[in-house]
Amino acid sequence: MESEQPFKTIIEPFRIKTVEPLRRTTRARREQALEEAGWNLFLLRGQDVLIDLLTDSGTGALSAQQWGRMMQGDETYAGADSFYRFEAAVKDITGLTHVIPTHQGRAAERILFEVMVNPGDIVLNNTHFDTTRANVEYRGATAMDIPCAEAAKVCDHPFRGNIDLQKLDATLAENPGRIPLVMITVTNNSGGGQPVSLQNIRAAREICDKHGVPLFLDACRFAENAWFIHMREPGQEERTPIEIAREMFSLVDGATMSAKKDGMANIGGFLVLNDPEILVHCRNMLILTEGFPTYGGLAGYDLEAIAVGLYEALEEDYLRYRIRTIGYLAERMQAAGVPMITPPGGHALYLDAGQLLPHIPWNEYPGWSLAAAIYLEGGIRTCEIGSVMFGLQLDGTEQPAARELVRMAFPRRVYTQSHVDYVVEVMLRVFEKRNRIGGMRMTHSPPVLRHFTSQLEPIVPRLIHQETTINA
Ligand code: F0G
Repeated sequence: MESEQPFKTIIEPFRIKTVEPLRRTTRARREQALEEAGWNLFLLRGQDVLIDLLTDSGTGALSAQQWGRMMQGDETYAGADSFYRFEAAVKDITGLTHVIPTHQGRAAERILFEVMVNPGDIVLNNTHFDTTRANVEYRGATAMDIPCAEAAKVCDHPFRGNIDLQKLDATLAENPGRIPLVMITVTNNSGGGQPVSLQNIRAAREICDKHGVPLFLDACRFAENAWFIHMREPGQEERTPIEIAREMFSLVDGATMSAKKDGMANIGGFLVLNDPEILVHCRNMLILTEGFPTYGGLAGYDLEAIAVGLYEALEEDYLRYRIRTIGYLAERMQAAGVPMITPPGGHALYLDAGQLLPHIPWNEYPGWSLAAAIYLEGGIRTCEIGSVMFGLQLDGTEQPAARELVRMAFPRRVYTQSHVDYVVEVMLRVFEKRNRIGGMRMTHSPPVLRHFTSQLEPIVPRLIHQETTINA
């Protein structure tokens, strides 16, 4: 029999059954919208955005299979069939024992930390996501990031999301009794969407066992992480994403999950764990703030969407297309010299605004300027991950963030190749004009999480101005 020749073109592994028109705007309207929003892209209305790359969270398209099952959502208050289908899917994929549904990822984090973390404790993580960090700190504990050394280097290491094993061992040894749990975030969102290897999780497990400390996954993008392991880790190429995911979960005592990412749902999350004692306390907290243990703040149809979505996120065809989308976007921009974090992440591409706009100092927020310029030029909404997001310290002073980045995060199954080509074209135009892009000044700054509601304005009245002398 003739063997099948693979084709080079990776196609979107779906056809489109329902469409939603894109909303076009003029440049004049976008300029006005920016003014109205205080130059804060979070404050734009969706109707003013053509392509929305603000986040990959809860923004994906549902499948026909999901919609079909949602029609069979059982809205029984206690003991609904939908819960048992959801629970079976989570147990089948994670192999963990107790499943607690929550309305989204941060609710699972809050419940877990409320039960496990005390004031003065330290929680270790390759890199805490903002809400994870905030929930640890809210407990009066310290959220300590220990990413591997490659995370900060300019290099093509295949697993730049790994946790630093030496630091993990040393910090656990130095702080007996103060570290209630260790977390590994897969993929490492705040570190550029970089994956964590199986070898790294296995070694972290051994170290945690040595110190008698439980290990948890922040599993939001577990399927994308499994795909990177399949593609990059020696000895894993023959295994399917679901087999790899099962091994990832077999190495931990529990996980928090935002089903808005690799649960392929618009809302939802869960906490899953083995320890029956912790479970009892978590369930009590759940009832207090989220809802009865068989719905946890979700409708029956949400539970159905997740039960199907968790498997769809692990389909090879889907993951190949998903990861290739970001890879293709990165290649096209890199060919033109656009600086970014490499290798590109799974759910997002992280532009390096600090390098792209070297004439703008950190306290004039180069990432913010770049994101505004991309919107102004082509109606594309992205997200600054730089000194507006991280610069404000608890004592009210400002410090530069580690890097000035702009994230282009892709909703799942929403955009096609021509949308991506358009993003490239817009970005290349912005790149050509980079010397004419000016910095920003903050006019209103809330005391916490300021990126969501702060107001800014361009220092020179036009963000992209005509003079070419700035960098001369
Ligand atoms: N952990 C990670 C790694 C995340 O990326 C997120 C959310 C959460 C936890 C919290 O989950 O939103 O369901 O409460 N990340 C989104 C983002 C918001 O845009 O990266 P949630």
